[in-house]
Parts: sequence; C-alpha cells; structure tokens
Amino acid sequence: MQIIVRHTCNLNLNDKSIQRKIGIGIIQDFNPNAWMESIGNLHAEEQHQLNQKITNDAKNSFYLARMAAKMAITNLTGLEANNTWIDHGVFGYPVLENDSLGLGISLAHTVSSGFAACYDHRDKIGVDIELVNETKNTVIETALTKREIELVNTKGNNRTVYLHLIWAAREALSKALQTGFLIPLELLEVDAVIKNDGYYEFTFKHFSLFKSKAFEFNKSICTIAYPERCLLNIEPILTLLKRNKSEYSQNKVKEI
Ligand SMILES: CC(C)(COP(=O)(O)OP(=O)(O)OC[C@H]1O[C@@H](n2cnc3c(N)ncnc32)[C@H](O)[C@@H]1OP(=O)(O)O)[C@@H](O)C(=O)NCCC(=O)NCCS
Repeated sequence: MQIIVRHTCNLNLNDKSIQRKIGIGIIQDFNPNAWMESIGNLHAEEQHQLNQKITNDAKNSFYLARMAAKMAITNLTGLEANNTWIDHGVFGYPVLENDSLGLGISLAHTVSSGFAACYDHRDKIGVDIELVNETKNTVIETALTKREIELVNTKGNNRTVYLHLIWAAREALSKALQTGFLIPLELLEVDAVIKNDGYYEFTFKHFSLFKSKAFEFNKSICTIAYPERCLLNIEPILTLLKRNKSEYSQNKVKEI
C-alpha cells in the first residue's frame, strides 16, 4: 500500500507571540516503478538531476524526496511548487531555487519513502526517516558514543527501536545545522530521550540550542530537529496518523 501524508504543524517561538508553520510531506511504500509514470511532476532541472542517477533505487529515492518536498511546500504556502527545484549548498544541504518566499527545506529518503519539511528560513529544521531494521544495529552501535549506548541499555527490550531513534535524531540535527556528517560525529551526541504518548523527544549534549521529536510510522521512524527556543506541535500529524491507521493497513493507496 502506498501512503501519502501532507500536513502542517505549528512552530511557536517560546514567548508564543510569534507562530510560524512547517509544511510536512511524507510518502511511504511507494511503488518502485511509479516515478517513471509521473516524472512530468518534476521541474526540468530535477528531471535532469534524476537522469544522472544510475540505479533505479537512486532514482526512486531522489524522486520520492522531491515529491515529499513539493507536498511540504504546497502545504506551507498553499502554492503549487512547479516552478521551484532543489539544488545543493556548499555542505550538501538542499536549497530551494527560484523561491521568492525565503523558504528552507530539509529532505530524507529511502528507496521506498520520502520525508520533507518546508519552513521559514528564519527557523532551522532538519528531518530524517529511518526504516527500522535489526540488521543495521551493529553499524549504528559502532557510530554511537559510550553514553548513548548506555542510554539505549536502559530502555529494556526496545533496543532496535532506540538505536534507530538516536541515529535518526543525530542525522536530523546534522541537517538542521546544515553540516550533515561533515563535523565530528560525537558532537551530535544525544543527551536524553523521553517517551511521550505517541512520540519521543530528544535533547543534545553539545547542541542545547536544538531539540528533536520523533514518531514511529509504518515500520519507520520520522524525526524532526528544531530550535529549542521554539515549541513544535506535532499533535496534528500524530492524530492524523492514528485516525487513519486502520484504513492504511488495508491494501490501497491512502492519501491523508
Ligand atoms: C546529511 C547526511 C547525513 C544525509 O544522510 P543520508 O543517510 O545519506 O541520506 P538521507 O536520506 O537521510 O538525507 C539525504 C538528504 O540530506 C540532505 N543533505 C545532504 N547534506 C546536507 C547537509 N549538509 N545539511 C542538511 N541537509 C543535507 C540532502 O537534501 C539529501 O538529499 P538529496 O541529496 O536527495 O537532496 C549525509 O548525506 C552527509 O553528511 N553527507 C555529507 C558527508 C558525505 O558526503 N559523506 C559521504 C558518505 S558518508
């Protein structure tokens, strides 16, 4: 089944007098060949970039992130995103070209899913999506700090989920910083994870300026890193996902 989620969530500055929004786009379990049929949805520049990808997995992944980005832009602005495309800045961060609104964009993709957040450029947001897969545990463990492993060890038999949660929180932070993994990875260390009703919250040891929230969705973890001085409300997305769970578990395309 293919699942498409489009929504916005509020980002309040701490004094609550300023409220901005983040546009969110998620595509999951995408039919691996469908991009070939809908390539026309991409800007000519993006079609050119897609043609340079060699493998079908790389093309799929590229396409999904761009479609998620277009959904996120449209949700935030109410405008079609046909005239903009995504290029990359000096550290590889995505940059929206031909955008007159001053938007920022963050992307993550796997071969079958895309996740994007579109935001006001005054905010700094980073996203990640990770398919939870036990075979990745060892690789993740070698990248985490001793303290993070100790943190995971306190979480009982949810080891696989917590390893992926911490990994995704680090990646999302690296994207909000716009450095990616070009900085020493231990600087991205997670300080604490709190489990709430339907989502997780993270703080970072060296970057107390940022926090992160994550939710599990269809065997994946979706994470959003954002400035600590803001309040990010992801409840509308969680409510949407909960309400539609029974429907998207049926074998059909579900747009919510
Ligand atoms: C940012 C990074 C951690 C992303 O991790 P990933 O698991 O490869 O891929 P994800 O799907 O989570 O995210 C990919 C998106 O991150 C975004 N991204 C890349 N570098 C970024 C940066 N410095 N800041 C913010 N976002 C970045 C891009 O939009 C990319 O998608 P696109 O290339 O289709 O536009 C990683 O690409 C990175 O750090 N790269 C720089 C170091 C590098 O090139 N290392 C070589 C391989 S280890």
